[in-house]
Amino acid sequence: MAQKSFAGTKKLEGKVAIITGGASGIGEATARLFSIHGAKVVIADVQDEKGRIITESIGPNNCSYVHCDVTKEEEVKSMVESTVQTYGKVDIMFSNAGILRKLDQDPPILDLNLSEIDLTWSVNARSMAACVKHAAKAMVELGVKGSIVCTGSTAAVCGGIGWTGYHMSKHAVLGLMRCASKQLGKHGIRVNCVSPSVVATPLMCEAFDKSAEEIEKLFRTATNLKEVVLKAEDVAEAVLFLASDDSGFITGHNLMVDGGRCS
Ligand SMILES: NC(=O)c1ccc[n+]([C@@H]2O[C@H](COP(=O)([O-])OP(=O)(O)OC[C@H]3O[C@@H](n4cnc5c(N)ncnc54)[C@H](O)[C@@H]3O)[C@@H](O)[C@H]2O)c1
Repeated sequence: MAQKSFAGTKKLEGKVAIITGGASGIGEATARLFSIHGAKVVIADVQDEKGRIITESIGPNNCSYVHCDVTKEEEVKSMVESTVQTYGKVDIMFSNAGILRKLDQDPPILDLNLSEIDLTWSVNARSMAACVKHAAKAMVELGVKGSIVCTGSTAAVCGGIGWTGYHMSKHAVLGLMRCASKQLGKHGIRVNCVSPSVVATPLMCEAFDKSAEEIEKLFRTATNLKEVVLKAEDVAEAVLFLASDDSGFITGHNLMVDGGRCS
């Protein structure tokens, strides 16, 4: 019987990974970590300049950038196809691109703005369905027993005093992940979520109109782990676990990276 090796330090050697929203924050940290672990990484984003700079710094032999607006299914489909053309397969889809509007744009129920909900929904939930669908189709066609990881949030498991559309969209990501994990298991494809609490990325800084230091100070006491600040790299480690063979029997799971905040 083949034994699993725990000795190697490179957990994604020979794997091909797509990371949406890889030009910033959690996606960028994950692209760097995946590449350290031997994966060929495709960053798919709409921030072309940032995406290209990160690709260059990771190394063009191990990383490439594709412009892809994930709200457009045709762009997602062609991004997956171009990945298969370039690298021969897709083993990992980290569907991570997302937006968080400012509170006045995504307000509490009595002031709901339905157009804003449509926008948040299209980036955070509907687009993830397109990414899961096209990555899974490529995996099934090529017989790849892949791993799909979607970025949820603590907002996927609890309500909020505002950001109604954001909470709705992240709850939907869990529903997508659970359906996909049940439907794709017969192909050997695992589907999981990673759900972080607050990380001081551009998404959070812009939504709160605060610096990274201010965000970290503001949320420092919001978890059960005192004086520990969640960084994008911590989330990337959790994504690596879900993407790699280390989590080979785990599917349909929402891995909270929240310092016990929602426990
Ligand atoms: N930062 C947090 O506190 C936090 C907490 C929980 C969950 N999340 C989730 O983590 C994910 C990554 O967010 P982040 O915090 O790293 O933010 P970020 O702003 O640093 O990165 C998000 C990336 O998504 C890209 N993106 C946005 N719309 C896109 C589109 N239509 N097509 C392609 N790419 C698009 C952006 O260009 C950006 O590069 C999001 O899904 C977010 O909801 C973040």
